[in-house]
Amino acid sequence: MTDTYAVIGNPIEHSKSPQIHAAFAAQTGEDIEYGRILGDMEDFAGDVRHFVRSGGKGLNVTVPFKEHAWQLVDENSERAEHAGAVNTISVLDGGRLHGDNTDGVGLVRDLAQNHGFDFHGKRILLLGAGGASRGILLPLLEQNPHEVVIANRTESKAVDLAGIFSGQGSVSGCALDKEHHEPFDLIINGTSAGLKGKVPQITTGCLRPGGWTYDMMYGDQPTAFVTWGLEQGASHALDGLGMLVEQAAESFFLWRGVRPRTGPVIGMLRGQH
Ligand code: ATR
Repeated sequence: MTDTYAVIGNPIEHSKSPQIHAAFAAQTGEDIEYGRILGDMEDFAGDVRHFVRSGGKGLNVTVPFKEHAWQLVDENSERAEHAGAVNTISVLDGGRLHGDNTDGVGLVRDLAQNHGFDFHGKRILLLGAGGASRGILLPLLEQNPHEVVIANRTESKAVDLAGIFSGQGSVSGCALDKEHHEPFDLIINGTSAGLKGKVPQITTGCLRPGGWTYDMMYGDQPTAFVTWGLEQGASHALDGLGMLVEQAAESFFLWRGVRPRTGPVIGMLRGQH
């Protein structure tokens, strides 16, 4: 019997997840259907209940419901617990809901496996202290970088976020415009500044010559942060399309126990631009 999955968010019409999962299913021969649900801003829980009652097996959760989902599920994985957000719900036998968060693993896999970045011993600057940054911190620290510095416009939020992860590795918080004595090997943009075509205002010289930049956002055109990275002399200025496909692959693996190949799917999406 065909198993049903969907992505739920608001807005949802531009989500690439149905296309990504259809490609995974075709590649692996898994018999699934994957739709999109426009979530009700007032009744996310009702939408999830309805989906489960109609036999749905799993959901991807996107903006703005990831924190709602984290509260709603019956149990969370360790990485979802730390993220404070759920992007993958699995419907267990008996209807219990298991929450997980595959965003951080998606980012790490894109950088390490698709592009060959070695995190070990690296100095990483993470811009932003909202949900996007929180979602990736545990998998990032698990890669044993030398340190992660979280820089945020509102400094106190960066310090608070670093505090949540202080037991997981070397992590600290500071203001966005702080001067750093040593440049960073990798700068990740987890702010929402790009939604307005802006780049977070950090001091120039923060990136080691030939260092890497990574924008968790993506677009049909190079994002403002990708352009900024190239201007700063980055050897690799990446956008978040690879992360999108990798987080989807991890969800697919959680649901189906099969790991799809991501390269062809990333290539397909890039080809559409
Ligand atoms: P998300 O869940 O996508 O992370 P969020 O929780 O609203 O969204 O967080 C947005 C992040 O982007 C915050 O860190 C925000 O900084 P503040 O905490 O100071 O608000 C950051 N941000 C948004 N616009 C920005 C801009 N123009 N420059 C720098 N940082 C920006």
